[in-house]
Amino acid sequence: LLSTPLNPLQHDYTQAMQRSGTMLLKLLNDALDLARIEAGRLELEPVAFEPRQLLEEVAQLEQGLAHARGLRFVLDAAADLPPQLLGDALRIKQVLLNLANNALKFTEQGSVTLRAQRIDGGLQFSIIDTGPGIPEASQARLFQRFEQVEGPQRRAGSGLGLAICRELVDMMGGSIELESRLAHGSTFRVRLPLAEPPAPLPTAVPSSDRCYRLLLVEDDTIVAAVIRGLLERERHAVVHVVNGLAALAELAQSSFDAVLLDLDLPGVDGFQIARLIRQREHRQQHLPIIAVTARSGNKDEAMARDAGMDGFLHKPLTGEQLSQALARVIGSTSTAPVVPQETD
Ligand SMILES: Nc1ncnc2c1ncn2[C@@H]1O[C@H](COP(=O)(O)OP(=O)(O)O)[C@@H](O)[C@H]1O
Ligand SMILES: [Mg+2]
Repeated sequence: LLSTPLNPLQHDYTQAMQRSGTMLLKLLNDALDLARIEAGRLELEPVAFEPRQLLEEVAQLEQGLAHARGLRFVLDAAADLPPQLLGDALRIKQVLLNLANNALKFTEQGSVTLRAQRIDGGLQFSIIDTGPGIPEASQARLFQRFEQVEGPQRRAGSGLGLAICRELVDMMGGSIELESRLAHGSTFRVRLPLAEPPAPLPTAVPSSDRCYRLLLVEDDTIVAAVIRGLLERERHAVVHVVNGLAALAELAQSSFDAVLLDLDLPGVDGFQIARLIRQREHRQQHLPIIAVTARSGNKDEAMARDAGMDGFLHKPLTGEQLSQALARVIGSTSTAPVVPQETD
C-alpha cells in the first residue's frame, strides 16, 4: 500500500498502521517466547557458529537504526575471539539485538557500543550506551516482565525484552547484569559459557537453511523497509543497497547466500546487474538471484531468467512467498548446476 500513490494523510495513516503492525508482531513474538519458556518448551539449538560473523550481523542491523536516530553504533570485537564456538547462535543474537535496540531506543545523543571479549570458558558481551541511565532503585525489577521506567518511550514497548533476555541467558547457563547511573548511561553485560568445537567444523553448518545473509537491491526505501522487515522477522541478515553499482561493490567485499534484485533501478537496471554478477562468477560459483518487481508484463520473467536470475517475485510480497523463493533457489542452485527451470 505504501508503495502506491496515496495522499499525505493516507500515507501517514498507512505508516501508522505499519508501525502498529510491527509493534504488535514484536509483542506477540515476545509473549510467545515467554509462554514457551514458561511451558518448558523452548529448546536451545546449539550449532557451531562464528562469533565475529554473528557480531557483524547484529551491528549491520543496528547501524541502520542508529543512523535513523542520529546516533553512532560501534562494534568493538576483541582481536582474539575464537573463530568458532558452540551455542545457540539465534538466541544469542536475539539477546544482543534486544539489548542494543533498547540502548538505541532510550539514548538521545551519543553512541551505543557492542563490545565482545573472551573470558574464561566463554564470551562477555557489553552493550554500552550514553543514554539517560537507569535509577538504581528500578534496576533489579526491570528484568521482570512488564517492568519499565516511567518515561516518554514507555509506550513504545511492553517491558518484556529484558525478561526474555534474562530467561534465555539463564537457559544458556550465563549471567546478565546492569551497571548504570542516572545521566551517565547504562552498560548491560552478558556472560555466556561457550565451548570451542574440538576441531573446526565446516562453516556452512551454522548458518544452514534457516538464517541467510541476503543482499537487497531496491531503490524505493519504503518497499525496502517492508521487505527487510519480512526477512528480518525470519532472522535473516539483510544488507540493503539502493543501486546496482553499490550492489556490485558489496558483492565484491563480502559473501551472501542470495540477492533480491529489483528490476527497475536508477542507472544500471536489474537485468544488467544480474548479467554482470554472472560474468564475474567463476565456474562452480552460482549466487542465487531473485528478481523482485512491480512489473506485471508477461515477458519479464523470461527476460529475467535469460539474464541469469533464478527466481521471480511480484510486489507486493508476503513473507511466505519470500521464504519459499529463498528455500527454492538456495536449496537448488548452491549445489546442482543450473538448469532452466519451469515457470510455475
Ligand atoms: N539502555 C537503556 N537505557 C535506559 N533505560 C533502559 C535501557 N534498557 C532498558 N531500559 C529500561 O528498562 C525497561 C524495560 O526494557 P524492556 O524489558 O526491553 O522493555 P521495553 O523495551 O519493551 O520497554 C525499559 O522500558 C526502560 O525503561
Ligand atoms: Mg526492549
